[in-house]
Amino acid sequence: MCGIVGYVGKRQAVPILLQGLYKLEYRGYDSAGVALLEEKGLQVVKTRGRIRELDELLEKKGPFAAACGIGHTRWATHGAPSDVNSHPHLSAGGKFAVIHNGIIENYAEIKEYLIHQGVHFRSETDTEVVAQLLEFYYNECHDFFEAVGRVLRRIEGAYALGMLCEDCPGTLIAARKDAPLLLGYGEGENFIASDVTALLRYTREVSYMEDGEVAVLTKDGVQVFDALQQPVEKARHHIDWEVSAAEKGGYPHFMLKEIFEQPEALRRTISPRLKEGRVVLEDMKLTPEQIRGFTKVFIVACGSSYHVGMLGKYTLEHLTRRSVEVCLASEFRYSDPIVDEKTLVIVISQSGETLDTMAALREAKARGAYILSIVNVVGSSIARESDDVIYTWAGPEIAVATTKAYSTQLAVLDMIGLCFGEVLGTVDPAEYRAVTAELQKLPEKLESVLARCEDIQRYAAEYFNHESIFFIGRNLDYALGLEGSLKLKEISYIHSEAYASGELKHGTISLIEDGTLVVALGTYDALFDKAMSNIIEVKARGADVLALTTERRRAEMEKTASAVLTVPNTVPMLLPSLGVVPLQLFAYYMALQRGCDVDKPRNLAKSVTVE
Ligand code: AGP
Repeated sequence: MCGIVGYVGKRQAVPILLQGLYKLEYRGYDSAGVALLEEKGLQVVKTRGRIRELDELLEKKGPFAAACGIGHTRWATHGAPSDVNSHPHLSAGGKFAVIHNGIIENYAEIKEYLIHQGVHFRSETDTEVVAQLLEFYYNECHDFFEAVGRVLRRIEGAYALGMLCEDCPGTLIAARKDAPLLLGYGEGENFIASDVTALLRYTREVSYMEDGEVAVLTKDGVQVFDALQQPVEKARHHIDWEVSAAEKGGYPHFMLKEIFEQPEALRRTISPRLKEGRVVLEDMKLTPEQIRGFTKVFIVACGSSYHVGMLGKYTLEHLTRRSVEVCLASEFRYSDPIVDEKTLVIVISQSGETLDTMAALREAKARGAYILSIVNVVGSSIARESDDVIYTWAGPEIAVATTKAYSTQLAVLDMIGLCFGEVLGTVDPAEYRAVTAELQKLPEKLESVLARCEDIQRYAAEYFNHESIFFIGRNLDYALGLEGSLKLKEISYIHSEAYASGELKHGTISLIEDGTLVVALGTYDALFDKAMSNIIEVKARGADVLALTTERRRAEMEKTASAVLTVPNTVPMLLPSLGVVPLQLFAYYMALQRGCDVDKPRNLAKSVTVE
C-alpha cells in the first residue's frame, strides 16, 4: 500500500515530510513526492524512484518556505510507475493537491465525465480524478470543505486522502474509507499519516480515523466530522511502540502482518471486480471471441505461484470444461511445449521479476501464445511483457514467504474461471451466483480463521521438534498441501513433503512410523471419506495426525485425528483460500519456536531473478 504523511504547524514542512517518508520506506514503493503550500501557492515535487532522489530534487529546487504540506510513497495500482503517475496529483488549474492510498473503483466513469467537461488529465492513475473533481466542485461552491464532501459522495472504493487547497493556506483536509489513516497531535502543529511510524519522531499522541470521517487540520487544532458532516470527538491514544516495531504495524514480523492483512488485501482484489454479483474484469483486454478461440490453456509459474496454478487447474477445468496444463516455469521453458496462437498461457508471479517465469513467458510468446499474467508489482517486467495483466493489488509483500500475494492470486484465478465459464456458457448460473456470493464473504470468513490463531500457536509449541512432516490431501487439498509444506520448509527448515493421499500406498507410507507427524487436509467434502480412510491408514502405522477440515466435519474428524483445525464452510473452490491461512500460521509459529529468521529465511530471496 502507499505511504501517506501530512503536516501543518509552526515548522518548515519539507524536513518533516521527508523524515516521515523515509520511515515509510519499508512498506515498499516505486515513487515519492510532496506538495507544499507556500505563500506563493502550491508546489509539487515528485519523482519515480527512491525517496533519496526526491530528497535531492527538493534540495535542488529549494529552499521552500512552507509550514503545510503532504507527502506520499506510491505502490502503483493504476498506471505504471512514472514521474507523472506519482503523487501528489494537482488539479488542472493547480488549485488542489491530493495524495491517496487505496483504489477509486469508479474512477474511469468520473474521468470520462470530467474530460467531457473539458478537464485535462495528465496521468493514468485513479487518484487524479480526486484532484480534478475537487477543483470541479470548488469552482461551483468556492468552499474547500464543501467540495471535499461532494467528492466523497461521488467516488466509490477505498481511500485514505490528504488534500491541500491553494486558497486555504495553513489548512490540510484528510478523509478515510477502508484504508488506514491516523491523526497526530503536537504543540502548534498537527499531522496525518498512513502508519504511526512516520510520526513517532514528532508525536506519540494519535487518533485513528474511522470510515467516512473527514478531518480538518490547522496548526491550532484538528476538527473531525462524520459522514453526515457532524463533528465527532476522537479518542486519543499514546503510542509506546519503538519505531522498529511500528514499521511492522505492531506485528513482530512482516510475515505475520501480511498474513493478517489478507482480508484487507482480498477486499482490494475482489470488491472492484464484483459488480451486482457479476465478475467484471475491466483490466483484462481478452475478448469473448478470443476466449472462445483458445484450444489449449497453460498455467506457468514457480514456487507458491505454481501452487496457485495447481488450484487454478481444478477451478478453471471445473468452470470451463477445458483442459488446463500446469507447468513449473523452469520445466516449461525446456520442454519444447506444444504452443501456438490458439494457446492461452496464464503466468502467475508476485514480483513479476522471477527469471524462470519470465523466460517461460518469452518462450510461449515466441511460439505464438497469448500471455495473460497475474502479477502484484505494477509495471514489473512480466507485467510489461504480457499481452494482458490482471494485478492482485495485494500491496507490497516484504516477507520472503508469500502469503497475501498467494491468496489474492487465487482470488484472481477464481474470478478468471467465472468470467471464462460465463463466456463459454459452461458454468451453472446457480453455482456462479453461489461462488460470487461466497467470494464477497471471503474476507470476513478469513477474519474468523485468523481470530483462532492461538489454537495453531499451541499446536506449533507441541510439534516444533519434529524433523520430518508429511502433508497429505486429495484434489484441492493436495494442491493446498503443497503450499502448506513449502511454507513450513522455507521458514522453519523442517523437512516436509506433500503427497496426494492416494499415493501413500504406492511407496511413501513406508516412511510413516511411530510419532511421525502427518498434517492431513480434509476440507474438500466430496472426498472427505477418502481423507478419513487415509488418516486411519497412517495412524495405524503410528502417525500423529493434525487434521484440517471444515466446521461441518469437526466432530467426525475429532474421533480420529489427534488434533483438528477447522475453517468455515464455503463453496469447494474457495476452500483453499480459507485453508491456506492455518497452514501459513502453522509454518510461522513453528519457525518462531525454532528461532528462525521468519522474514528473511536462509538461502532465499524475495524475488528469484537468477536461473
Ligand atoms: C513462496 O513463499 C516463495 N517465496 C517462492 O516460492 C515464490 O513463490 C517463488 O519464488 C515465485 O515468486 P513470484 O511469485 O514472485 O514469481
